[in-house]
Amino acid sequence: MSAARAATVLAYHTRSKHALDQYAAGPGTLDWDTQPAAFRDWTGTSQTPLPRDISVADITWNALPAARAPMQFNAANLGSLLRLCVGLTAWKEHAGARWSLRAHPSSGNLHPTETWLIASGVTGLADGLYHYHNLHHALERRAWGGATGNGVCLGFSSIHWREAWKYGERAFRYCQLDMGHVLAAVSYAAALHGWQPRLLNRDSAAVAHDLGLDRTDDFAGVEAEEAEVMVALQAAATSLPEPHWQQWAGKPSLLDARPLYQWPVIEEVAAATCGAPPATAAAPAPAAIINDDGTDIRAAQVLLKRRSAQAFDGQSVLPYAVLHRILSALLPGGSPVWKLWTHPARVHPVLLVHRVADIAPGVYVMPRSDTARDSLQTAFRSSFSWQPADTELPLFQLVAARAGKTARTLSCHQDIATQCALTFIMVAEFAAPIAADPAAYRHLHWEAGMLGHIITLQAEAAGWRGTGIGCFFDDAVHEVLGIKSDAFQVIYHYAVGMALDDPRIATAPAYP
Ligand SMILES: Cc1cc2nc3c(=O)[nH]c(=O)nc-3n(C[C@H](O)[C@H](O)[C@H](O)COP(=O)(O)O)c2cc1C
Repeated sequence: MSAARAATVLAYHTRSKHALDQYAAGPGTLDWDTQPAAFRDWTGTSQTPLPRDISVADITWNALPAARAPMQFNAANLGSLLRLCVGLTAWKEHAGARWSLRAHPSSGNLHPTETWLIASGVTGLADGLYHYHNLHHALERRAWGGATGNGVCLGFSSIHWREAWKYGERAFRYCQLDMGHVLAAVSYAAALHGWQPRLLNRDSAAVAHDLGLDRTDDFAGVEAEEAEVMVALQAAATSLPEPHWQQWAGKPSLLDARPLYQWPVIEEVAAATCGAPPATAAAPAPAAIINDDGTDIRAAQVLLKRRSAQAFDGQSVLPYAVLHRILSALLPGGSPVWKLWTHPARVHPVLLVHRVADIAPGVYVMPRSDTARDSLQTAFRSSFSWQPADTELPLFQLVAARAGKTARTLSCHQDIATQCALTFIMVAEFAAPIAADPAAYRHLHWEAGMLGHIITLQAEAAGWRGTGIGCFFDDAVHEVLGIKSDAFQVIYHYAVGMALDDPRIATAPAYP
């Protein structure tokens, strides 16, 4: 059974690859006027507006790693947390078009991830299951009665159609990368509130049940939501809420009245990758987080001002100290994310360095575990030199080269991949984890999304900027690195550089 599911996953991965001569199957035409709605309403629910203030506005970025007393679970602090991880951060306007941005990036700004909250014993909030309405920064009460325990869990689901509408078959990957960004965003926001987020070892069916996503009658005629994962915001002296809902309210709104295409392979791979995530280890090792960048920028400000660069200047040279901080944060223990994701590292960054001070342009790799170093060396080109490139980090130069044009070509010919200071290529341990548990296909993409999020926040804190790159030519990347089997596969790219802002785009506050 697991072998058949693994085969489905590998077949999906292969058919959703972009190649130099052919992109993965996607819509032939796009009508922007029919884009699925970015926000889902639950009509018939009661809506509770959340306070908009950030409770942790004074904490500096450098003080982020310090242990702090858990804040009280109340509506104000939960509102603050949600704003910092999944809330709106700005409205943008240009040439009559208006769109919102959120605390986490999303492929195509399509935001497939929906956020749920289970509250039990929270001051100022009736017990129940709530849908978080990002547009209004409000909670819609979807179910109640029967929750035991005391505390708060966040739940997440993906609406595949939001991504598939634009990206066709490859969209499942983007939903999973987005999920990884969200989990990382939750980790940073929770750390600021003194909460220790914990991934629950619930499988997809249990998550769907707890969040009411398996109530098929409620979803009749509208887009389904795929259960992803639940995260307990474990503060001291709380126990997990155990929901056995007795009452339900509301119906989900329709997002796209006239879907033009269907991509059944997405539901196939979703079914094949159902499962439970690796639960956060009960007692995570204390993290040695290296964060000191000599600035006193506020952490909440970094989270709220994070943006993806749409263009880089093609000339600024990234100080090596900034790259060192980014790389340190990617290593286990280097970021609050690794308190949530305690699973052994399985995704490893390759760096195409274009303009970084004190190191030569070239191709580098930083294996995130000792075992990966040996297996990557076996999988990569035998001509790579593996020269140690940093006295503190497991960073190796593979080859000295000007790789800007290569980075651009490999990243679907996007200029951002060459105008940035460096391009990251996330290489995942692949066939073995998926054979052992096909759900690993989701988890590897989450891990890559988490790496992307850490990169982007570290860059942002230092005055630089990152952009995710989900469009790349998979096997062309493998050829450059010498990867000949599916023991390793590339699953994400990320660019970091000095952003060029477009002065024509006006900005308005997220919640006026
Ligand atoms: C998984 C993922 C893939 C992305 N791929 C690309 C890409 O290939 N090219 C690009 O220019 N931006 C890409 N982006 C950036 C998004 O376009 C950006 O996050 C979105 O427009 C929202 O803007 P913001 O990040 O400033 O909030 C990607 C983002 C994510 C999370």
